[in-house]
Amino acid sequence: MLDTETATLKQTEQALNDSARVLALQCDVSVPAQVQAAIDQVEKKFGRIDALVNNAGVAVFKPIGETTFEEFRYVLGTNLDGAFLCSQACIEVMKKNRHGSIVNIASISGLRASTLRVAYGTSKAAIIHLTKQQAVELGTIGIRANVVAPGPVDTEMSKLVHSVAIRSDYYDTIPMNRYGTPEEIANAVGFLCSPEAAFINGQCLAVDGGFDASGVGIPTLRKHQDGSI
Ligand SMILES: NC(=O)c1ccc[n+]([C@@H]2O[C@H](COP(=O)([O-])OP(=O)(O)OC[C@H]3O[C@@H](n4cnc5c(N)ncnc54)[C@H](O)[C@@H]3O)[C@@H](O)[C@H]2O)c1
Repeated sequence: MLDTETATLKQTEQALNDSARVLALQCDVSVPAQVQAAIDQVEKKFGRIDALVNNAGVAVFKPIGETTFEEFRYVLGTNLDGAFLCSQACIEVMKKNRHGSIVNIASISGLRASTLRVAYGTSKAAIIHLTKQQAVELGTIGIRANVVAPGPVDTEMSKLVHSVAIRSDYYDTIPMNRYGTPEEIANAVGFLCSPEAAFINGQCLAVDGGFDASGVGIPTLRKHQDGSI
């Protein structure tokens, strides 16, 4: 586990309570030297890398004209550069066994544009394409790359950026009328990392309760699913 926040790392390390299988390292994934140092430590402890999940992400939701270049770079730095750098470092280790799985974490915001997401949405669209590049180039040496695009999930990030009104709008628009849970996202990620997904490469899996499939939807029609209007 790599994270910038030592408190988060400590808490998760304690919850997992498995020092033989868990290594928690403070690392800013947008800084090349920190990523290389962390992956060196991972290789030293475990001797190999079977799977990499590029999950670190940040969000700044602002209109295009109000998003500063620093904010744009901050979001792209973690969400896109981070995935590029961690993948590059891990691929060197995976290559030795000609085996590995990369799962990048995008968002529905990477599949379709929505308000205030010039930095976040662009970073997530880019990571979807980065995944395809990785799948094409690395498939030949036994490394698979796939991307999970979650819909709204109840996590620290969504608590920070989703107001009560936004939550209620999401409930209305998502066919399953709720947010996802971190466990539901983790189940999809775990599957893509596992041998069960051995021939799945270069795919984007939306884990979103049908949010992507629903498009914009028509609220009045949704309220009258029995056909009455
Ligand atoms: N929560 C949602 O509704 C939602 C929806 C779609 C996609 N996602 C994506 O899922 C992923 C996880 O999001 P979350 O909701 O759990 O967010 P979160 O804020 O709860 O967790 C993100 C973690 O990334 C860490 N992090 C941030 N910048 C970092 C950096 N530069 N280097 C290392 N670690 C860094 C943070 O410290 C934090 O622990 C993100 O990529 C996010 O964009 C979340």
